Amino acid sequence: MSQRDDISRLIEKYADFNPDRLHDASLGLPLAVPSFGAAEIGEAISALLSGWVTMGKRVAAFEEAWASQVGTTEAIAVNSGSSALLVMLTALIAEGHLRRGDEVLVPAVGWSTSLFSVVQAGLTAVIVDIDPDSLCIEGKRDRPALALHMLGCPSRVTAPLIIEDACGAHGAMIGDKPVGSLGIAAAFSFFFSHHITTGEGGAVTTSDPALADAARSIRAHGWTRERTDAAAQAAARPDIDPRFLFVTPGYNLRMTDLAGAFGMHQVGRLDAFVARRRANHIDWCARIDALGLPLRTFPELPGTRHAAFAFPLLLSEDCPLTRAQLCAHLEAAGIATRPISGSNLARQPAFERLVGVRVEGELPVADAVHERGLFVGQSHAFGTDHGTLLASTLLSAF
Ligand SMILES: Cc1ncc(COP(=O)(O)O)c(C=O)c1O
Repeated sequence: MSQRDDISRLIEKYADFNPDRLHDASLGLPLAVPSFGAAEIGEAISALLSGWVTMGKRVAAFEEAWASQVGTTEAIAVNSGSSALLVMLTALIAEGHLRRGDEVLVPAVGWSTSLFSVVQAGLTAVIVDIDPDSLCIEGKRDRPALALHMLGCPSRVTAPLIIEDACGAHGAMIGDKPVGSLGIAAAFSFFFSHHITTGEGGAVTTSDPALADAARSIRAHGWTRERTDAAAQAAARPDIDPRFLFVTPGYNLRMTDLAGAFGMHQVGRLDAFVARRRANHIDWCARIDALGLPLRTFPELPGTRHAAFAFPLLLSEDCPLTRAQLCAHLEAAGIATRPISGSNLARQPAFERLVGVRVEGELPVADAVHERGLFVGQSHAFGTDHGTLLASTLLSAF
C-alpha cells in the first residue's frame, strides 16, 4: 500500500468528523466531544503541505476573526490559555497599567494557572471569596481584579482595572457586551474541551494597540517582528539588526499554523455551539431543580448570557451523599465528573509554594465548592436526551 493510498484512506474518514451531529446519549456524558470537521482538517493538511507550520498566515487569519468575534481591535494568539494569561499580565506591567508587586484580586475558585500567572508575572495575588450564585467575583472592588468567568458564567465585578480570564467563557455576555471586551484585556483558551478548539491554544484580546504590541513581543522572544510599530522600533536602534532586535523580556509561546488552521474555521461555529450549550444549561437546570434534590444548580443570571462551558452542581450541606459517593454513582452511569476547577486554590499544596499571594477575608463559598462541588461535561453535541440521563441518574442516586 503506497503512502498516497494511506493518505486517501485517512481523507475518507473526514466524513466521521461532523461537529453538527448530536452525540448519542446512550453512550453517557463525556467531558467533551470533538468540535471540528472537514474544514479544519483540510486546512491543517494544507498548512502541512505548504511546508509552513510555525506561526504564519493562518494564525494571522484566526487572530483577525477572533478579535472581530469578541468585539476588540486586537487578538494575539498563543499556545494555551495559561500562556495567554501570562502574556497579558506581563504586557500590562510592560505598558505601565500595573507595577510589579501591585495587588490583583483573584477569585479563590479558579483554574490553577489563573492564580499562578498573576504571581509568575510579578504581581501580588489577593485571594477573595466568590459569589454563591455565579461562582465568580462580583460587586464593586477597590483594586484591579481578575474577572474569571467561571465555567461560562460571566463575572459582573467592577474595579479600577478589569482583567478577564475568559478561558472558559467564549460567547458569554453581560448585556450586549461579549466577554473578552469587558476590561482592558482578556485571556482565552482553545484547549480541546472548550467551546471552540485549536487542540492546545489561547489568545489575548484587547483594544489597546500598545498593549497588543507588547503582547506580540512577549509572546515571541521579546522581538519586534510582529509588532505594528516594528519599523519605528528598528529606526530607533539602527545599531542592531532589526531581524534580531529584542525590546522587552519575552518567552516563546507562539501558536503554530496547524492550530491556526483549526482556529480559522472554528470561529464561525461558535455562535451555534454556544446557543446549543446555553439551551442545554437552561433546560438541565430546570429539570434538576424540579426534582427537589439536596443539591443546587447554577441558572443563568439576569442580564447575562451563560456560555455553559461545563455543568456545575453543589451538594447541600445536609446532603446524605458525599461528593465522592455522588461522583461514583454518576461515573458508573457513564457520566464523567470533575471537581469545580482547582476548587479553593488556597487549599491546594502549590499555594504554600507561591511567593506574593495572600487571602483576604473568609472563604466560605470557596470552601463549600471545595467540599461539595462538582461538574459534569457540557457540549455543543449534547441535547435533551443528555439532560434526561443526567436528571434520572441524579434522582436514582438519592
Ligand atoms: C478559567 C480558566 N483559566 C485558565 C485555563 C487554562 O487554559 P489552558 O488549559 O489552555 O492553559 C483554563 C482551562 O480550562 C480555565 O478554565
